[in-house]
Amino acid sequence: MKILITGGAGYIGSHTVELFGKLGHDIMVIDNLSKGHKEAVLYGKLVVADTGNKEKMKELLSSFKPDAVIHFAASIEVGESVKDPAKFFENNTVNTLRLLEAMVETKVNNFIFSSTAAVYGNPIKVPIPETHPTNPINPYGKSKLFIEKILEDFNKSYGLNYISLRYFNAAGADPKGRIGESHNPETHLIPLILKAAKGERESIKIFGTDYPTPDGTCIRDFIHVCDLADAHLLALEYLLESGESGVFNCGYGKGFSVKEVITTAKKVTGKDFKVDETERREGDPPILVADSTELKEKLNWKPKYEDLEFIIRTAWNWELNRRF
Ligand SMILES: NC(=O)c1ccc[n+]([C@@H]2O[C@H](COP(=O)([O-])OP(=O)(O)OC[C@H]3O[C@@H](n4cnc5c(N)ncnc54)[C@H](O)[C@@H]3O)[C@@H](O)[C@H]2O)c1
Repeated sequence: MKILITGGAGYIGSHTVELFGKLGHDIMVIDNLSKGHKEAVLYGKLVVADTGNKEKMKELLSSFKPDAVIHFAASIEVGESVKDPAKFFENNTVNTLRLLEAMVETKVNNFIFSSTAAVYGNPIKVPIPETHPTNPINPYGKSKLFIEKILEDFNKSYGLNYISLRYFNAAGADPKGRIGESHNPETHLIPLILKAAKGERESIKIFGTDYPTPDGTCIRDFIHVCDLADAHLLALEYLLESGESGVFNCGYGKGFSVKEVITTAKKVTGKDFKVDETERREGDPPILVADSTELKEKLNWKPKYEDLEFIIRTAWNWELNRRF
């Protein structure tokens, strides 16, 4: 297949590029390198461009003629979205709309979208099924939900077929250690814990120990980034075969608490480090766990790395030997 991958120099994008590349697919990566790393692109051609530049997108789509677009490019930090919502509506909503228009105008009709569990807001039911009401509580989640809504109408009116994948917490790294998570600033739990283990941070903070969970800390569904990459391949094959658009949760359906992740990280790294228990942060639901029955049954997704120790071991290996 010929696949255009936006945001392919970023964390999840680069692991997906690696998967499609090793299977022999022809890849064009578009990334403005605002957050990504060109060294992370292991396959295909990297074009440094912005998805909001519609004319450039049309030019690239017309010349490359991809079978599909997988769209990772976005601004991702929830806290920043609260401080500066305009940036998120601009980059995640408007720039994606420009890309979708460019696709319609160049007749590229298949789209895989990086959505997020943040579209659900505070869940009223866990594990969370795709049919759960969407009620995002921050601009980041809203900026993604708007695109899901736009996709429904682009599908009806222009015949653009799509699958939105709602990721829970992506984690871990390439088991061969070539690529991994490298966000700046880093806000994700596992890399932050590992920086504390490495001595690059003084301590790791736990925000809230009085949640209604067994150990009082929040519970999240951590999915290994390579299993997540696999979900993109299956989603794309399904879309191309069936032409049926849809929405799928991506998570294991099992959560780990912040304290459990810290304990496992101490075991994997063999390091002890300081843990500070502090107040709750605003807007953190106690439990976010996916109901991923649809992904497993409809797309035949079979996770390979559903093991917290393995996830942390690959992330630790990356942290110790990172290239960028
Ligand atoms: N990391 C997670 O746990 C998680 C969870 C849910 C959803 N997501 C979504 O998955 C996607 C990828 O996340 P990630 O963690 O890999 O983020 P990332 O920041 O590592 O990757 C995003 C990439 O997109 C590029 N980019 C951003 N805006 C662009 C633009 N306008 N034009 C071209 N390139 C642009 C950045 O340079 C970066 O390389 C995002 O859409 C994010 O919202 C991530």
